[in-house]
Amino acid sequence: MFLKTTTVALALVLSTYATPAPAGEGARIDFQKRNALTTDDGWFDHGAALKQIDYDTHKHKSNMIALQRNVELSAANEPFRDDVSSHEKRQSVSLTDQENDSYWSGNIAIGTPGKNFVIDFDTGSADLWVPSVNCTSSTCSKKNKYSAASSSTDTPRTGSFALQYGDGSTVSGPIYSDTVNVAGIKATNQYFSPVNTLSPSFATETIDGLIGMGYPALSHLRANPFFFTAKSQGVVKNGVFGFKLGKSGSSLYLGGTDTSAYSGSIEYHSVSRQAYWQISNGALLLGSKTVVTGLSTIIDSGTTLIYGPPSQVKTFYGSIPNSKVYDASAGLYSFPCNSAPANVAFSWGGKSWTISAANFNAGRVDSTRCVGAIAAFADSSLGASTWIVGDSFMKNVYTAFSVDQNAVGFATLR
Ligand SMILES: *[C@@H]1O[C@H](CO)[C@@H](O)[C@H](O)[C@H]1NC(C)=O
Ligand SMILES: *[C@@H]1O[C@H](CO)[C@@H](O)[C@H](O)[C@H]1NC(C)=O
Repeated sequence: MFLKTTTVALALVLSTYATPAPAGEGARIDFQKRNALTTDDGWFDHGAALKQIDYDTHKHKSNMIALQRNVELSAANEPFRDDVSSHEKRQSVSLTDQENDSYWSGNIAIGTPGKNFVIDFDTGSADLWVPSVNCTSSTCSKKNKYSAASSSTDTPRTGSFALQYGDGSTVSGPIYSDTVNVAGIKATNQYFSPVNTLSPSFATETIDGLIGMGYPALSHLRANPFFFTAKSQGVVKNGVFGFKLGKSGSSLYLGGTDTSAYSGSIEYHSVSRQAYWQISNGALLLGSKTVVTGLSTIIDSGTTLIYGPPSQVKTFYGSIPNSKVYDASAGLYSFPCNSAPANVAFSWGGKSWTISAANFNAGRVDSTRCVGAIAAFADSSLGASTWIVGDSFMKNVYTAFSVDQNAVGFATLR
């Protein structure tokens, strides 16, 4: 992910609190976020959108680089880092918005004693990073920082971590492992990077760092992401986590799904490639009309909009009356605000999961026209017919991610 770059200046967010549950049960972490691309009075924030699109493009490019490298290293029989760690000495662990936020952020703690961080939970990437006490630049001045010297459970690891952003800046640092506690679920020897260099685009964000919830294959650290570590260490019984995103009452449930957040059963679809949370045979519908089919969809909490290949997005807007290109280079389209479609839906062969008119509308650009939340994504490296389905969709459904079944599921929000 990273950055949902959206913005730089966000104010807001979080009233986050965690609700630890009895051992073995799941735990819920609450968070809040507003749509950074839309101002409170409903205007589309074009500048924030351009940054976001640039950020998303680089995030996915960089993920594909990590994936390729991980595939090559596996082919060469290079062990995964977590395998290496089992041969290393294990340390004993005592178990004891102005620019409104675009992150689904919550608190986590790293180290012993735990140091708190405000983190973006991103299903579209797979690494954890937070600022290091050794980041002395002004970009880190307002951040919570990790200090290895202040933790009794830290272990320095070999190698380094670096992510490159669109503006040429980087987020980089050494690699450590330490205890990571999310809502009372504690993973030990979790690999992460305390970063010494923080891209200026993060400086004014309310988040300190990011926690990737994607598969290990996307990891630049080449190590298990937090939830996979927690599952393999048995600190969550059920290998499932669920997101409920919205204007209020947003939360992430780890180790199960929050049955108070949805009704009926969860419609699961098998992950087609265990890297992203990616499911195939998707279709985009307009009411009972199927507009495009055969979609491979990446379900990404770390992306605000919904992106598809330019030709398919063009076909889609061809079905929205009076829609037209708004910003060709950014892939954005507009439509008459007073006739926002209320029947755009995704289907993966089961129910149709509708995007509300409000969630389809990314904001007003003049007195009559609004920008649509579906945008064309020029980068084709993710594959033909691949869509990145972000928050504009996830806000309409309860979304479950199952490591146990390697499946993504949707249910009706209560
Ligand atoms: C963010 O929210 C504030 C109010 O909370 C609003 O005044 C402002 O216009 C919003 N800014 C953006 C960029 O969305
Ligand atoms: C920061 O620098 C100190 C002193 O060089 C070092 O001991 C420490 O391991 C570094 N990193 C972190 C994350 O604390």
